[in-house]
Amino acid sequence: MIEFLTTSLLTVLCVKYISTVFLSFDKSVIQSTSLKNPRGHSPLRYPGGKACLANFIANLADINGCTGGTYLELYAGGAGAALNMLFEGTFKHIHINDYDYSIFSVWHSILNDTDNFIRLIKDTPVTIDEWHRQRGICNSGRAAGLLALGFATFFLNRTNRSGIIFKAGPIGGLDQKGNYLIDVRFNKENLIERIAQIARYRDHITLTNEDAVQILQCLENYHSNRQDIFLYLDPPYYQKGKQLYLNNYGHDDHRKLADTVAELDNEIKWLISYDNVADIRQLYKGYRMSCFDLNYTLQSKKFGSELLVFSPELEISDKITVNRRSSDLTLLTEEMYEKANGARY
Ligand SMILES: C[S@@+](CC[C@H](N)C(=O)[O-])C[C@H]1O[C@@H](n2cnc3c(N)ncnc32)[C@H](O)[C@@H]1O
Repeated sequence: MIEFLTTSLLTVLCVKYISTVFLSFDKSVIQSTSLKNPRGHSPLRYPGGKACLANFIANLADINGCTGGTYLELYAGGAGAALNMLFEGTFKHIHINDYDYSIFSVWHSILNDTDNFIRLIKDTPVTIDEWHRQRGICNSGRAAGLLALGFATFFLNRTNRSGIIFKAGPIGGLDQKGNYLIDVRFNKENLIERIAQIARYRDHITLTNEDAVQILQCLENYHSNRQDIFLYLDPPYYQKGKQLYLNNYGHDDHRKLADTVAELDNEIKWLISYDNVADIRQLYKGYRMSCFDLNYTLQSKKFGSELLVFSPELEISDKITVNRRSSDLTLLTEEMYEKANGARY
């Protein structure tokens, strides 16, 4: 009997110790958690996020000999595709860049201040009062400091409708009378797992906070070996960018990007995605283009189809896989547009 009681007591103490260690979220957690939901690697919900293209890009990397190399996503946002391919081993290194300092501060804190970021997730109540407080921090921008701004941006991204940080209110409304409430997308345990997983890969991630065009103009300063890089550009939407992101491009910025891309060394394999609008198709006239549909959950509105532009030397497959669904990849032609409705190519 005494032996049984001693064993039980030891078991209880042991379990208690393990959960205390787990709940203290120190570095040992970072080394021991495993991802329960391998499809959701990014801790950010991103309007226009392209995690769904990871399979397609991984396949392009494969047929173009870039597997095991470096993946650059210079308009990274939630970086869902980048993380997916890093964890799957498609690329050994990823370079993520976003010009929005708030988004940068999320990634910076996750990679460089992991324990404190995790502690904030654990200790912060997900309530409307807290939402107001975090919004205040977000509004104070750089002055808040990287960790506070990074966490506040993350908090609003997880609690606002559609993940829109500055121009949307909390899920369930300020009076919390909706069907879904403010904490519906804030599963602390799952988010902590994602963050711990990313932190484990920190030596394989380069993070920058620059204008993408400036990086493209001196790419050799960042990556000397051009042969094994795969560049993916997902700039702010031409039509909807203003509503969704802090930083947005005007027509001249989109044109400048197209001009800069045209100057890139032919060796560099790249892929660009955009909203499928005539002005963008015009800017990239002369390149091979295709389009696909993406189901957005932005309010109840569905965005039009998405455009893909391929670099001249890129070998492309005849199938495209989006969200695990494969379909034929059809290259767009001027005639197709004229036939359809006389729309400008
Ligand atoms: C369409 S979103 C990218 C979404 C991302 N591919 C994903 O899967 O989550 C565009 C991103 O570009 C960023 N951005 C805007 N202007 C930029 C610039 N000049 N240089 C780099 N990033 C910029 C925005 O902050 C936004 O995060």
